[in-house]
Amino acid sequence: MSPEDLKALVRSIPDFPKPGILFRDVTTLISDGPGFAAAVAMLSQRVEAAGAEAIAGIEARGFIFGAAVAAHCGVGFIPVRKPGKLPVPVLAIDYALEYGTDTLEIDPGAIAQGSRIVLMDDLIATGGTAMAALELIRRAGGVVEEALFLVDLPELGGTSRLREAGVSVEALLDFP
Ligand code: PRP
Ligand code: ADE
Repeated sequence: MSPEDLKALVRSIPDFPKPGILFRDVTTLISDGPGFAAAVAMLSQRVEAAGAEAIAGIEARGFIFGAAVAAHCGVGFIPVRKPGKLPVPVLAIDYALEYGTDTLEIDPGAIAQGSRIVLMDDLIATGGTAMAALELIRRAGGVVEEALFLVDLPELGGTSRLREAGVSVEALLDFP
């Protein structure tokens, strides 16, 4: 399956969750077995090339791809969670995304000091979410050299922000 085939499986919904936002919905891709499998295989190749020791995925849609890729590659999965979900003292950070603000939290004990972590999410837009997750992982002692996404919305500038922070960024699909 080609990247163009995968792109055709992503549904676009205008004015969700707010007027003016064109929402790129990956639920239609994950409900397609061959499409989901192809996406996981392509992302896994990049994780293996990066020599990652673990994948950190961002709640909620980043869990779907991150956990599947982690299992495929035989590496651990670290959940970067929305607030109030982890049962231990957390590192937390507030951030802005394309259509609002939120908080992310991480269990600092989940990250081995100096371990090579690949950051993963379904989509990057402004990069607010990914930059917040990067900051948390670095504060916890992880090393993030690579971030992976299924979808990039390049006009919103998120990949540039991550690259300026010293992270190599790849996305399977661009939506201008
Ligand atoms: C979406 C998406 C990314 C983020 C990208 O998550 O899954 O995490 O937005 O936007 P940004 O680059 O502008 O920060 P959302 O917060 O909607 O949560 P969900 O995964 O729980 O649906
Ligand atoms: N997260 C931030 N912006 C988004 C968009 N346009 N579509 C889907 N998820 C998003």
